[in-house]
Amino acid sequence: MGVVRGRERWLGLDVYEAVATRRAVRAFTGDPVSREVLERVLSAASRAPSGANLQPWHTYVLTGSALDRLKKRTAERVAAGDPGDAREYEMYPPELGAPYRERRSAAAEQRYGALGVSRHDPRARARVVAANWDCFGAPAALLCFIDRGMGSAQWADLGMYLQTVMLLLRAEGLHSCPQMAWSVYRATVAEVVSPPEGLILYCGLSIGFADPTTGAFRTDRAPITETTTFMTD
Ligand SMILES: Cc1cc2nc3c(=O)[nH]c(=O)nc-3n(C[C@H](O)[C@H](O)[C@H](O)COP(=O)(O)O)c2cc1C
Repeated sequence: MGVVRGRERWLGLDVYEAVATRRAVRAFTGDPVSREVLERVLSAASRAPSGANLQPWHTYVLTGSALDRLKKRTAERVAAGDPGDAREYEMYPPELGAPYRERRSAAAEQRYGALGVSRHDPRARARVVAANWDCFGAPAALLCFIDRGMGSAQWADLGMYLQTVMLLLRAEGLHSCPQMAWSVYRATVAEVVSPPEGLILYCGLSIGFADPTTGAFRTDRAPITETTTFMTD
């Protein structure tokens, strides 16, 4: 099968290539993503594994005026200096020790550096963070929920599901950015999507075509010698 890059499907895209080219894209063109493509990706991603095949995710897909409504209502809260809703889960442990703290600092340094923003300029940083709630200009977003009764193992299932979605998006020539940031304004998300009482918002996922005019950067990774132990005897 031919490999067609850009807006066309990457027919036959190698899994290694999908993994290597996925990155958190934080600048999208406004070009729409068709429902047909989103349905194809989400149908294929439903093959993601989950413990006991619980498939403990529920995903809302927002485009068009539904997404505009979410962005607009959230932007109003951000502009009013609203710090957000009581958190339903901790995004990170309050005391982040080595090596995680250093990895987080390095990632932030890279991210703000790519935008020419000093990490020590709180206003500029706030503007960068606020772009989350505009989905970085993306024309489509997923909001992924989990049943309140589920445990940490099922939250991990949601991670596998979302990664599967992100890789399949690459096969469609699309990019994405996972966003826990949506949990900050979860009440506004709930107003727009009206989830059943028992669900918690885990993560959003902005989806679209990467804006080629905005500088891309590639985050580092620890070598596997730091994260993996092979044992043979
Ligand atoms: C569950 C999850 C939540 C994330 N939440 C956010 C977020 O709210 N905003 C954001 O800009 N990036 C978010 N990210 C993106 C990470 O910062 C990014 O994946 C990481 O720095 C590695 O960079 P890469 O994805 O470009 O390889 C999130 C990633 C994951 C997996």
